[in-house]
Amino acid sequence: MTDPTTAHATHAPPAPLHIGPVVVDPPVLQAPMAGYTNYAYRQVVREFGGAGLLATEMIAARSAQWLETHRGEHPDRLWGVHDEPRPLAVQMWDNDPDNLAQVGRRLATEFRVSVVDLNFGCPVRQVTEKAHSGSWLLRDPDRVGTIVRRVVEACDGVPVTAKIRLGCADNCRTAIEVAQRVEEAGASCLTVHGRVAAQFFTGEADWEAIAAVKRSVSRIPVVGNGDIDSAETAVMRLRTSGVDGVMIAREALARPWIFAQAAALLRGETPPPDPTLDEQREIVLHHYDLVCRRFGVDQGTLLMRKFACSYAQGLPGARDFRGRVSRVTTQEEFLDVMRTNFPRSPNAQASPGQRACTSLPA
Ligand SMILES: Cc1cc2nc3c(=O)[nH]c(=O)nc-3n(C[C@H](O)[C@H](O)[C@H](O)COP(=O)(O)O)c2cc1C
Repeated sequence: MTDPTTAHATHAPPAPLHIGPVVVDPPVLQAPMAGYTNYAYRQVVREFGGAGLLATEMIAARSAQWLETHRGEHPDRLWGVHDEPRPLAVQMWDNDPDNLAQVGRRLATEFRVSVVDLNFGCPVRQVTEKAHSGSWLLRDPDRVGTIVRRVVEACDGVPVTAKIRLGCADNCRTAIEVAQRVEEAGASCLTVHGRVAAQFFTGEADWEAIAAVKRSVSRIPVVGNGDIDSAETAVMRLRTSGVDGVMIAREALARPWIFAQAAALLRGETPPPDPTLDEQREIVLHHYDLVCRRFGVDQGTLLMRKFACSYAQGLPGARDFRGRVSRVTTQEEFLDVMRTNFPRSPNAQASPGQRACTSLPA
């Protein structure tokens, strides 16, 4: 792989990504992740900076009809959306153009989100086989086109985007046809996760196939997604695959500062180092605080177990920590496990000026 810390000298920073009127700069996006990318997580990402566009978890358009009868209240998946800083994308799923158009209009006009994103990539059975939505729709590019067109018409100028996989299965790789329908229907951007749905998360993301999708459309920008596990990889993918932007999901659960590192690399600067383990512990506690403020300590503690596990991913002693933290049920237990079992390194003292997370409140 090219070493981007030396390669930056010969590269100008990439052009910002334009999603309709929304300028995504740098063109590095935080991916939607159901159950994870709620307000608390987005706030942590935002405090580090570097992500050009943040995204919510996906919401079910059908259950978002709920909004209709509960004016003034928001389901948990829309926590924060009304008031938090922009740009912000909200993603939704369904297979019914009218449902999606109705909810899309509401997101655009009442919530004033920056981008309305449509999910055509979810591989989970409840969404595919049971609701004929998400990646199920990749077998019917015309229907994808119809959905996009209806939502674009409903969203009052707010840009509509689509997120797809390469197809349903290896024998049903429809991404290029879908991309062309999405473009014709007036979407403002397309994100491609370089796997077919049948793979779930196995195998490797196929960046050649992502590049082929990019080449198959002429007007809309394409964002590539899959297996970006470092700031260096993000920069390499952006520079070598021809895409207009890159999106990061799983790695950013463990390292929400990855966007700030990628942004620095793209500017030609040395990326800030990972926070020390002591700093990482403070970040987890800050995240916990945000979660508890919304859900209370009982529910917040249970919810935080999976986030804490993600943060520990790849750290020394992570296995032991994860085993313990995934069993806590009270705030006291959570804080105790954080204090005694969150990975520590004897050499983890940060030198002054080397802290990557000074903007985070303790
Ligand atoms: C826990 C989890 C939840 C996800 N939820 C969504 C979602 O709600 N909408 C979506 O479009 N993709 C979702 N994805 C897929 C990611 O956005 C992304 O496409 C995928 O993880 C590949 O990127 P990565 O290799 O950087 O993780 C989810 C992925 C994970 C791991």
